[in-house]
Amino acid sequence: MATGTVKLPQSELQAALAARAKHIFITGASRGIGEATARLLGEEKNHRLTLAARSYTRCLGICMDIGTDRAHTVRLDLQDEQSIDEAVVAAESRNGPVDVLILNAGINAQTPFDDLSPQGRATFRSVLTTNLVHTYFLAQLAAAHMPQNGRILFVGSVLGRMGVPGNSAYVASKHAVMGLVRSLAHELAPRGIRVNAVNPGWVDTQMAHDAMTRMAEHRGVPLQQVQTQMLSSQPIRRMAKPQEVAQYLKFLIGPGGDCITGQGIDISCGSVMI
Ligand SMILES: NC(=O)c1ccc[n+]([C@@H]2O[C@H](COP(=O)([O-])OP(=O)(O)OC[C@H]3O[C@@H](n4cnc5c(N)ncnc54)[C@H](OP(=O)(O)O)[C@@H]3O)[C@@H](O)[C@H]2O)c1
Repeated sequence: MATGTVKLPQSELQAALAARAKHIFITGASRGIGEATARLLGEEKNHRLTLAARSYTRCLGICMDIGTDRAHTVRLDLQDEQSIDEAVVAAESRNGPVDVLILNAGINAQTPFDDLSPQGRATFRSVLTTNLVHTYFLAQLAAAHMPQNGRILFVGSVLGRMGVPGNSAYVASKHAVMGLVRSLAHELAPRGIRVNAVNPGWVDTQMAHDAMTRMAEHRGVPLQQVQTQMLSSQPIRRMAKPQEVAQYLKFLIGPGGDCITGQGIDISCGSVMI
């Protein structure tokens, strides 16, 4: 009997790589967009999922819903550099190299330019550390063993395209995400790895609720008034659902995402059109 490697045509090879079981690592999987993404991708029985966040118990509950044979939790605190190393090692020793890395975890906080207090500096630093610096370190570690046809997907924001008074740390972090996406797309293309961002506008999660509550308090008006005002300027006058962001991430993981790299794709109910 003849032995040796069977050579598939390039198109069939791509299809075979896309269809095989994937190890998908999701940061910020304990709630919001990360949870919705974990639940959606968990419907595909051949994927193995790593759910990473500080809230171990919440992630564990989601893993139990998906099935603990396919989904497991690692503790991750993006404020803590050592935690990044430990999370990637734990995920790889359980499920092998990461095929798809979804860098979704993030925080938002007010950082007024005229706040000269030590707390102001700490907040600025903590937003950049979580959303950018340690997220980048995590990407480096997970990409080190990432196979051909891998995907790195950031959850950025439409605020990566515009300025917002009093919110410069968050806005800068999301602009920087697009810098990473565009640079890493070049660096990793020779290894067959695609790097993109989905950039949501308002999404109905805890983060959006907290941001609108802060605005309402600042202006001394009811929360409902802020919500109506924010959404009335959009062509589609509602918040996106976390599941709608998850659907787009799912598309980018699949074969349809193979010729897309270095892009930031808005899911914003039309709030931004550039
Ligand atoms: N909601 C919006 O309107 C909106 C709009 C544009 C962009 N986004 C972006 O979408 C992403 C997800 O946001 P979301 O709306 O789903 O927010 P969310 O409901 O507040 O969830 C944030 C997630 O990030 C995790 N996280 C926060 N700090 C962390 C840390 N130090 N280490 C590890 N994980 C941490 C949280 O988990 P633990 O607390 O358990 O650690 C949680 O799972 C963020 O990058 C955000 O900037 C959101």
